[in-house]
Amino acid sequence: MPLVGRGVGASPFVAGPRGWPLVGCLPAFGRDPLGFLARLHRDHGDAVVWRLGPLRILSLADPERIAEVLGSPLDHGVLDIGWMFRQLVGDSVIRSEGAAWRRRRALVQPAVRPNRVRGFAPAMAECAAEHLDGWTDGQRVDVLREMTLLTQRIAVRTLFGAEPGARAAALAGAMAEAAHEIGVELRGPGVLLPGWVPTPARRRIRRAVGVIDTELGELVRERAREGSADDLVGRLLAARDTEGRALTPREVRDEAVTLWAGGHETTATALTWAWCLLARSPDARDALHREVDEVLGGRAPEHADHDRLPWTRRVVEETLRLHPPVWLVPPRVAVPGTTVGGRAVPVGTAIWCSPWVTQRDARWFPDPLAFRPERWGTPDADARAHFPFGAGRRACLGARFAQVELVLLLAAVAQHFHLDVRGGIPPPLPGLVAHPASPVTAFLRRRDPAPHRPGT
Ligand code: HEM
Repeated sequence: MPLVGRGVGASPFVAGPRGWPLVGCLPAFGRDPLGFLARLHRDHGDAVVWRLGPLRILSLADPERIAEVLGSPLDHGVLDIGWMFRQLVGDSVIRSEGAAWRRRRALVQPAVRPNRVRGFAPAMAECAAEHLDGWTDGQRVDVLREMTLLTQRIAVRTLFGAEPGARAAALAGAMAEAAHEIGVELRGPGVLLPGWVPTPARRRIRRAVGVIDTELGELVRERAREGSADDLVGRLLAARDTEGRALTPREVRDEAVTLWAGGHETTATALTWAWCLLARSPDARDALHREVDEVLGGRAPEHADHDRLPWTRRVVEETLRLHPPVWLVPPRVAVPGTTVGGRAVPVGTAIWCSPWVTQRDARWFPDPLAFRPERWGTPDADARAHFPFGAGRRACLGARFAQVELVLLLAAVAQHFHLDVRGGIPPPLPGLVAHPASPVTAFLRRRDPAPHRPGT
């Protein structure tokens, strides 16, 4: 039975596939969210209206319309992406709207602004060195697991200034469980269930959130007792809004969870995709090793190396193009005055923009499925169509942190090890982030970095 098309007859946007009563396109979307979105735009064009349960969605695929929405000065709503996500991040910056969002953003942003990220670079390099100390020549590793442990170590160090002890391990386990449950909810009918419906999955996430609240609460209290320090939680505790008010303990909890959740699974996933792609592009991988050897020689990477490693940066850009961890920008919800291409969008419509779809479009990236880091800086890469960190006022708050972290970690690993990744490139499994659907296994080969030659 056609749902899309009904009730949107007055809309000038193209009606997408017919859905089912009540659930709309949820079955097809849930089976393969990325494939569904790619087909939606291939078959219906750049601005398509469809339904997911009771939700009316306008899905956009071309950079101009996407920029119009994400760059809009209007206070759009943000789509509530489910009961579980709400339990995890509370009312943090990523879920708030209007004046509440402006206050939160103003309080959190200074903690990760670019000149402060410089101060976190030594922790990133130290964590990499400590983690790589545990690797041996010939060892077989699960790449996503290793990259996750590494970025978790950095999250603990940069958030709390602490070593990854038992408390942090419990927190990490509970966060991983919560992220898994949220991913399952997002792909299935659970996303449509009202909050009061009890399900086994909801009981599991409640338990995980309970652990998160206990462990994180204690880590924050420890930080508060120790007084001012230059880690992220210390900065959140010290932040004051325009009226001199601090964040409440609950608000600090919500923001710390969001920085943790937003800040390490994304980077671990991007690094895993990068090693997969590099393993299949020997020339790109050799160029990475060469650049790292020439620029770093035997020393550890530092903040300034981000700008000295242009090929490594291109590898990062190209990885984020082909495998953007955040496959769907948190949807904006149309308010009075929202327009796209000069046309009014009905109030309440959720506007979807997927970096995964647009960044794989041959109109903006010729030979779009090929991993070609060299395309960056040439007409073969249309920067307007590249938005792995979203765009506009709500663009990723940690983008600079992530870019520096990705470049320094790729360099630190490539300096000492060659990752011989076996098997083909797995399909992505989209949840909160899109990570490989099956394990990525690599055999490690230790490298002897070339000695540092000053001036090279
Ligand atoms: C490869 C790594 C990362 C990717 C791909 C990524 C991507 C994104 C995207 C697409 C958004 C939504 C932007 C929008 O709505 O327009 C976002 C928001 C956000 N990200 Fe990231 N992110 C990454 C790393 C980080 C890191 C390291 C942090 C923290 C240190 C972080 C913190 C946040 C926060 C707090 C928001 C919400 C901003 C708001 O709603 O105002 N992210 N991120």
